[in-house]
Amino acid sequence: MKAGIVGASGYTGGDLIRLLLIHPEVELTYITSRRYQGKYVKHLHPNLRGITDLRFDELSPEKASECDIIFMAVPHKASMNIVPDLLAVGLKVVDLSADFRLKDPDIYERYYCPHTHPELFEKAVYGLPELYRDELKKAEIAAAPGCMAASAILGLAPIIAEKFIDRDHIIIDAKIGSSGGGKNFSFASHHPERANVVRPYGAVGHRHLAEINQELSLIVKQPIKVGLSTHAVSMVRGILSTIHVFLTEPIENKDIWKPFRKMYNKEPFIRFVKQPSGNYRLPDPKAVIGSNFCDIGFMLDEDIPRLVILSALDNLIKGAAGSAVQCMNIMLGIEETTGLLIPAPHPM
Ligand SMILES: NC(=O)c1ccc[n+]([C@@H]2O[C@H](COP(=O)([O-])OP(=O)(O)OC[C@H]3O[C@@H](n4cnc5c(N)ncnc54)[C@H](OP(=O)(O)O)[C@@H]3O)[C@@H](O)[C@H]2O)c1
Repeated sequence: MKAGIVGASGYTGGDLIRLLLIHPEVELTYITSRRYQGKYVKHLHPNLRGITDLRFDELSPEKASECDIIFMAVPHKASMNIVPDLLAVGLKVVDLSADFRLKDPDIYERYYCPHTHPELFEKAVYGLPELYRDELKKAEIAAAPGCMAASAILGLAPIIAEKFIDRDHIIIDAKIGSSGGGKNFSFASHHPERANVVRPYGAVGHRHLAEINQELSLIVKQPIKVGLSTHAVSMVRGILSTIHVFLTEPIENKDIWKPFRKMYNKEPFIRFVKQPSGNYRLPDPKAVIGSNFCDIGFMLDEDIPRLVILSALDNLIKGAAGSAVQCMNIMLGIEETTGLLIPAPHPM
């Protein structure tokens, strides 16, 4: 099997190259960049020096057609205008942008811009294998989730249908590292401005709300609206979502364990983290950085009463390139964990 990456010069593109170069059943043969055509990978991704002599190429559907599958690691708006030409030459596509995550063009327009190819929405499957494994097997487009959306949805999916939670008042407090903004820099990402911050940059109205609401609503088959507040914090990679769920009746720990175990017991990349004491008693992004794991834990607050769910992942791996490779494995009929069972280094 041959794979290619459009937009391979960026941060998710770099992690896709890294994961695909060590994948035992897929050969990475084609990577594109507009700015760096002809340059070696090491020019942009110094961690891959000595591992590959691939060079960045131009974007051409004809060249791409020599692959079996293409990853789109470009911004939203750009992806929607490239994907139709790739589908036309018979390719499967895993899109890391937001362009094919939503099912309603009006909601896409509200959060992003008018969509130029909404007719392709029906070909796309939301790229969370934990929810859509069967659908992904036949998908032409896998729309890998947004990084904060992935952490929030994975944290909430097992309990969102439980009758003991107040679905009208769910609050997700997400903290994310600087690589979440991609490679292009701005005044906000300038080191003196970005270092050492806990900056609330999306207290309300963050774009990932669209897909979080969509996916949670699909699970319970009725409209759900959650609150999402996002903060830029002083790390390079990682997300921690602290999810506050208010309870309608008293419950015990076992009432939470049960739905979580039911949904995730066999999931290869979901780990439960809930220990009575010690440094590692609840999820911490530090323990998943560089890996495709999402660590999930919870605490019950009987006084309020409230359930606090913690969900940690690496925004560039389980929140992007790792989930995308997991989708690829499913779409190509390869064992799902192939090339992805890599633990995070510790200490980091
Ligand atoms: N960063 C994250 O944590 C994260 C997580 C989940 C999903 N995503 C999504 O994944 C996608 C890539 O994110 P990223 O963080 O890797 O971004 P990035 O670091 O900015 O890289 C994107 C690359 O896309 C190329 N590109 C930009 N505009 C393009 C256009 N109009 N046509 C073709 N290529 C274009 C650029 O390469 P050249 O200029 O060299 O062509 C750029 O290096 C985005 O849609 C993002 O929302 C990111």
